[in-house]
Amino acid sequence: MTLMDHDLGTPAPRPNSRNGEQPTVDVTIDGIKISVAEGTSVMRAAALAGVDVPKLCATDSLDPFGSCRLCLVEIDGRKGTPASCTTPCSPGMTVSTQTPKLERLRRGVMELYISDHPLDCLTCAANGDCELQDMSGAVGLRDVRYGYDGANHLSLGKDTSNPYFTFDSSKCIVCNRCVRACEEIQGTFALTIEGRGFGSRVAAGFNGNFFDSPCVSCGACVQACPTATLTENTVIELGQPRRTVLTTCAYCGVGCSFKAEMQGETVVRMTPYKNGGANEGHSCVKGRFAWGYANHQDRQLEPMIRESITDEWKKVSFEEAIAYAAGKLKDIQARHGQASIGAITSSRCTNEEVFVVQKMVRAAFGNNNVDTCARVCHSPTGFGLSNAFGTSAGTQDFKSVEYADVILLIGANPTDAHPVFASRMKKRLREGAKLIVVDPRKIDLVKTAHIEASGFLQLKPGTNVAIINSLAHVIVTEKLTNDAFISERCEPTEYAIWSEFVSRQENSPEAMEAHTGVPAEQVRAAARLFATGGNGAIYYGLGVTEHSQGSTMVMGMANLAMATGNLGRDGVGVNPLRGQNNVQGSCDMGSFPHELSGYRHVSDDATRTMFEQLWGAVIKPEPGLRIPNMFDTAIDGNFKGLFVHGEDIAQSDPNTAHVEAALTAMECVIVQDLFLNETARFAHVFFPGTSFLEKDGTFTNAERRINRVRPAMRPQTGKHEWQIVCELANALGHPMSYNESSEIMDEIATLTPTFKGVSFARLDAEGSVQWPCNDANPNGTPIMHKEKFVRGLGKFTPTPYVPTEEKSTRKFPLLLTTGRILSQYNVGAQTRRTKNVAWHAEDILEIHPSDAQERGVRDGEEVTISSRVGNTVLRAHVTERVAPGVVYTTFHYPISGANVITTDNSDWATNCPEYKVTAVQVSPGRSAATAELDHPAHRLSALVRMANQIARQFAADSNLDAVKSTVAHLERFWEHEMRVDLAQAVEAGSITVDDVVVEAVRRLTVHA
Ligand code: SF4
Ligand code: SF4
Ligand code: SF4
Ligand code: FES
Repeated sequence: MTLMDHDLGTPAPRPNSRNGEQPTVDVTIDGIKISVAEGTSVMRAAALAGVDVPKLCATDSLDPFGSCRLCLVEIDGRKGTPASCTTPCSPGMTVSTQTPKLERLRRGVMELYISDHPLDCLTCAANGDCELQDMSGAVGLRDVRYGYDGANHLSLGKDTSNPYFTFDSSKCIVCNRCVRACEEIQGTFALTIEGRGFGSRVAAGFNGNFFDSPCVSCGACVQACPTATLTENTVIELGQPRRTVLTTCAYCGVGCSFKAEMQGETVVRMTPYKNGGANEGHSCVKGRFAWGYANHQDRQLEPMIRESITDEWKKVSFEEAIAYAAGKLKDIQARHGQASIGAITSSRCTNEEVFVVQKMVRAAFGNNNVDTCARVCHSPTGFGLSNAFGTSAGTQDFKSVEYADVILLIGANPTDAHPVFASRMKKRLREGAKLIVVDPRKIDLVKTAHIEASGFLQLKPGTNVAIINSLAHVIVTEKLTNDAFISERCEPTEYAIWSEFVSRQENSPEAMEAHTGVPAEQVRAAARLFATGGNGAIYYGLGVTEHSQGSTMVMGMANLAMATGNLGRDGVGVNPLRGQNNVQGSCDMGSFPHELSGYRHVSDDATRTMFEQLWGAVIKPEPGLRIPNMFDTAIDGNFKGLFVHGEDIAQSDPNTAHVEAALTAMECVIVQDLFLNETARFAHVFFPGTSFLEKDGTFTNAERRINRVRPAMRPQTGKHEWQIVCELANALGHPMSYNESSEIMDEIATLTPTFKGVSFARLDAEGSVQWPCNDANPNGTPIMHKEKFVRGLGKFTPTPYVPTEEKSTRKFPLLLTTGRILSQYNVGAQTRRTKNVAWHAEDILEIHPSDAQERGVRDGEEVTISSRVGNTVLRAHVTERVAPGVVYTTFHYPISGANVITTDNSDWATNCPEYKVTAVQVSPGRSAATAELDHPAHRLSALVRMANQIARQFAADSNLDAVKSTVAHLERFWEHEMRVDLAQAVEAGSITVDDVVVEAVRRLTVHA
């Protein structure tokens, strides 16, 4: 399949409302009559009529610009030759796109372009995909009367600073598409046109280098460029793609649709799909460029087993590994009982893969000990939204943000964590919507190009609930509530109880100021703006959920939305920005120990019976163990076997020492993953996983959109992950088999009312669909709770603020909070194996200048960071992004071990860990205590990975023994800086394995 997007030249005019009728106008183009929406350009109308007007500066993802003068047309009754891209259709207009005069003018324009263009088409990377080439053909250019010897730009150099694309200024036609893409689509404003007239050139930032400019490497400019000026390095290296597979990004919960453009089974480039519901043709650096991990040398392609975690891995056949794993699990259950084993599903895997894992647990393990990594991110979302509205999902689609007037952004940093949605949000903010940011850290959106938040409530970590209650206090006591909505849509008794609760003086901004640190007047102003500014939309992230009161806060936001009537239509809602690609899906699929798919409790007899009849198995009516309970029970000696599907719990879960103790206490840990991750250090069986490029299934994004993930290549392991899980279930004695993954979705649809109308065939025909999709909602549900809430009447719940037990003390006076950075993703297993390390090679600790000065900490130097559960070392960045008393880091590198210091405090309702608040102390350098308290397993794992990396990188080299012996020494004399600079040097190819060995030995000698 090749998917050729028909570029209509200019965007469709945006209606005032998605459901409203749009007036149309009738026009005639080259004798063809057509009716188009009012505001449509002549160029777009012509394209819709099947007439492509020549163009260069226009493309339908950007507003028309009118600079190239190639798209000229003649209009009856009008003088001159207007540009069709900037001319809107008017009623009865009669247009000619092809006349001798127009042909002459267009050829003249093309002659000018071509006279200043290196005519190396046959060796150009864009050969076959160049609009300049196409337009020369389209206008019938046969000669360039001006010759090629005049002043030109042909000797301009290339900018190769970006790891993923090259800028060759000599081929630039200064059409401005890249500049406009960066502004209009991405919203970064990294590019400008420098100079005037003939001297005009595209420039990145102030010094013209893409890497050092504000560019975030989203690639929108590359996609917009009509020539080879901006080209992906992979295209330069491999040539043009020959086939296309439509699939979905496997990174964040935005769920961008991509065309995987292939040569055979080699990816040439990933191009965001214009008709993708979530992204509408845009992407971020991860989805577009950071897919190289799928073929990284660290990838494990064969099953492995070992008796003890101190043994070497032994590669075996799938049959042997499955028999070995099944034998171990059966033996454990025979000795320790049916409940002594369980599984963790992954939000990185497809719905189909997740579904079969939870099915295996319930039907073949015979218990409900299945939990999902969503436990540690968005489980409070499920609890809180379900309590208020009756369903565990966000209320809107992403498009809804285009109709928001006031955006309340709480505990989320979309420009780093959900970049494509951030671009959509920024566009709306540039159009005039107001923004209120609630965050302990000054995120980019507080003030960025052409955007400045109207309110920034820089609260202390852990005080979200205090803020939401005080916002509600102002709205209720100042009578800013939407009483009509409340009386029509919500339970009156609960509202009365809640409004009395929030009206209490103890919830006023003045009373809460002592907790939150936010001046009361700022809270009052924000509350008034949200309640009176038009459509108010709440967006939130893990900065809400990963708290001891995460579920309370979700209910608090739901209360606020109901009180102001901001639900059930465009531009409003309560919207979780989900972390991983399939967090929503993994929850939908019945991964929680208490719920079957579609959020139905295991104690519900009718639901269980339905599953039991189809599966031929008995399902226990009692909920199983949650992840933290699995760990605790393992340490107590009663939980002995764990199947970990695509998660790296030894790195991603809090209090690493506790997790590792639990894993060590188990007799059989089975890991299924692409790489030998941190958790695999404790594993006895390893099943190789498949990358998203090999998977066949679906992901469900943060807006409940079910997107197809299609295989661009065969599974490099020889088996789909769901096949391995089914074979393990069979070996355990419960028959499970499917011919295709579509059959798994059919089973999901049969058993899950909200998925009843979903099938691969439908998704293939329609692109995507948002659940609920069933008889009541045959076309899916972009916006939920339109007429009434899923639970009937909305439920207000009082949300008393209970300060977290994690408080700053004399010993640990700072509060650490954590987050993500754009170029890296979660534990970094994928992105660290791509060129994205160019932007973020290590985790950094942000610290306020006053705290740094007090401690003698200097920018760029190492600091020891200690909490009551552990210590680690990070490099400091002194910045005012964080307030005094707060420090911040990311958690993308195992070496920095951010979770070594996070505690196992958790949300009262769901056990979601309180990652966002840890009391810590920071001291300069590596303290003596750090060397003593550094987690040995953590250091060892970094060494082992380095050993593997070196060994594989130099697999063909004869010095492997020397490398191994070096690593053995390194294990004893490990130092952080040694790994960093050696690894970078190896990566850069500036040293050989011999150099590594010599240098390592030299340093070891120094250390010894
Ligand atoms: S890659 Fe994206 S951010 Fe960078 S210049 Fe291009 S459009 Fe702008
Ligand atoms: S780099 Fe490409 S898109 Fe930008 S002005 Fe030049 S030709 Fe146009
Ligand atoms: S925004 Fe998220 S889903 Fe989209 S390309 Fe980036 S990482 Fe992928
Ligand atoms: S395409 Fe209309 S002026 Fe360039």
